[in-house]
Amino acid sequence: MTKKIVAISGSLRKDAVCTQIANTLEELAPAGTTVEVVTLNDIPMLNEDLKANGSPAPVAALTQQLVDADALVLITPEYNRSTSGALKNVIDWLSKEDAAPLAGMPVEIISHSPGATGGLMANHSLRSILAVPGAKVMAGFEVAISGSFGKVEGGKLTDEGTRDFVAGKLQGLLATLEAKAAA
Ligand SMILES: Cc1cc2nc3c(=O)[nH]c(=O)nc-3n(C[C@H](O)[C@H](O)[C@H](O)COP(=O)(O)O)c2cc1C
Repeated sequence: MTKKIVAISGSLRKDAVCTQIANTLEELAPAGTTVEVVTLNDIPMLNEDLKANGSPAPVAALTQQLVDADALVLITPEYNRSTSGALKNVIDWLSKEDAAPLAGMPVEIISHSPGATGGLMANHSLRSILAVPGAKVMAGFEVAISGSFGKVEGGKLTDEGTRDFVAGKLQGLLATLEAKAAA
C-alpha cells in the first residue's frame, strides 16, 4: 500500500535550500511512497487566544494532513545554533492539537547549513523539542548537510553522495513502518 510522508520545510525563504531538499524527497523515496511538501508561510505565530474558536485553518489543515500521514520529515536551517522560529512555532501549535498529530509519529530530521557543521545543532535542538509531543525521531547518524549551497541546483538536491545518504534514511524510515505493521 502507498505510504505517505509529509515533508515540512523550516525556512520561509522563496529559494530556501530547505524547500529544495523537501522537493527532492519524493524522487529519493522508495517506490510506492508519496511525499507532500509543506511550507509554513501561512502558519500564524502561536497565540492561545487564537484557539478560542478552534485552531486557525492552516493549523487545522496541517493537523489533518499529519493524521493521514505515515511519517514526517522535518528540514531545518540553523539559526543561531538552533532550529528556525517557524519550525518551533508549528511544533508548538501541533503539540496543543486534540488529535495529537505528533504523538508516535516516525520522524527523520534533515538539517543543512552553508558552513561546515551542516546545522547539527539545529538538528539536535529539534530532537529535544520533539521529545515532548512524543514524536519518534529515527535513531542513527544525523542527516546534517554541510556546504549545502553547493549541493542544490535548479530547485533540487543534486549532490550524489548526499542524495544517496538521504535515500538510505528514507528507506530506513519506511522500514520502521513496515516493522510496526508486521508486529
Ligand atoms: C538569523 C540567522 C541566524 C543564522 N545562524 C546560523 C547558524 O547558527 N549556523 C549556520 O551555519 N548558519 C546560520 N545562518 C545562515 C543560514 O544557515 C542560511 O541563511 C541558510 O541559507 C538558511 O537556510 P535556507 O536556505 O533553507 O533558508 C543564519 C541565518 C540567519 C538568518
